[in-house]
Amino acid sequence: MTAFLLDWAGLLLRWAHLLAGIAWIGSSFYFIWLDSSLRKRKMDNDAIAGESWMVHGGGFYQVEKYLVAPDKLPDELHWFKYEAYFTWLTGFVLMAVIYYWGAEAFLINSSVMELTPLQAIGLSIGSLFAGWVFYDLLCRSPVGQNTGALALGVLMLVAAACIAYVNLFSGRAAFIHIGAFIGTIMAANVFFIIIPNQKKTVAALLEGTAPDPAWGLQAKQRSLHNNYLTLPVLFMMISNHYPIVFGHSLSWLVALGIVIAGGLMRHFFNQYDAAKLNWTGRVALPLAALAVLALIVVTGNRIGTGAGKDEVPFAEVRQIIVTRCLSCHAVVPSDEGFEEAPAGVVFDKPEDIKRYAANILAQAVITDTMPLGNLTEMTEDEREVLGAWVAQGAKID
Ligand code: HEC
Repeated sequence: MTAFLLDWAGLLLRWAHLLAGIAWIGSSFYFIWLDSSLRKRKMDNDAIAGESWMVHGGGFYQVEKYLVAPDKLPDELHWFKYEAYFTWLTGFVLMAVIYYWGAEAFLINSSVMELTPLQAIGLSIGSLFAGWVFYDLLCRSPVGQNTGALALGVLMLVAAACIAYVNLFSGRAAFIHIGAFIGTIMAANVFFIIIPNQKKTVAALLEGTAPDPAWGLQAKQRSLHNNYLTLPVLFMMISNHYPIVFGHSLSWLVALGIVIAGGLMRHFFNQYDAAKLNWTGRVALPLAALAVLALIVVTGNRIGTGAGKDEVPFAEVRQIIVTRCLSCHAVVPSDEGFEEAPAGVVFDKPEDIKRYAANILAQAVITDTMPLGNLTEMTEDEREVLGAWVAQGAKID
């Protein structure tokens, strides 16, 4: 019953997380685009950044942006903050349901590092917190005065997180944590910097004093960081089902490559939308494509494991599957964590094993994603036997 309810909790949370995320990222993309589409008119004074006209859903919209603030506050002002908060909250609870509740299966891989569930959960929460503190200090330090140096600093911080996570957690958990690490920085930017600065501006206006332009500039810097970080975060969140990336021995480099490629893609779109495409914007997209191509080549390196061995009898393969996989992947699993075979994958009959040969190769040979958390303690030799069997045509007679 618990497994059944946890599954429902996971599904509903994922749904909520996706919805909040779409709302957040959608409005983030929209506002960055809106900013770039602003055009200054002859009559505009210095307080106005420009105007944008749009047509959508049967009507025309006219938007004007005030650089610091209007002289008088309107009666009704719309804020955009709950999208970010709810994305983070639903994401954190979802992570707790899957990776903390099921820490032994999903978070920990004893062949990466021996951790107790409590240690692993502590490291998870502590690292997310530390990530924000380091990032914020970096932005406030002298490095933060220089956009290029700061970008490099943030990239190095993310690189350090990638290396740390793949050496602490299971491959799948490592990628989710890289995403959560960046996502926490983004949500904290909204919560601790962007919204409070906007509140200070509003308070100053209500008091009749001039708001400090530095508040707006700081918020704008953080908001731009968030914009560049969105694509990599989304990749990490969907990478969960692709051991081709998180199961690779150089997975930290794969993750970093995606962070760079995603940032480059945003760079192109930001400049393109602003109609200010310079050479950096022009090379960004081809460079991103090259980076992705390089990742495909790097991750393809391991395919073919176990080929060229002596003919493997199916009986030997079946024995390995029965001992290492069947406790979960059976019509009636004996592992108490599962009431039904996870992902609907069963290995009861020889035909089932043959049918899933390619998946077995992906999950248990090319990568060591399965057995989950290596709970059934599969050996490298056994992985090679499975690989050789698949390479020899996955025969079952
Ligand atoms: C402790 C339980 C457990 C054991 C043992 C286990 N698995 Fe899994 N397996 C799972 C879970 C849970 C999932 C679903 C993962 C997810 O939701 O992404 C899964 C998913 C899979 C999938 C489908 C993946 C996909 O996304 O399409 C394959 C294939 C698979 N396992 C193969 C194996 C093989 C081969 C073995 C033995 C070498 C094995 N598993 C051992 C729990 C287990």
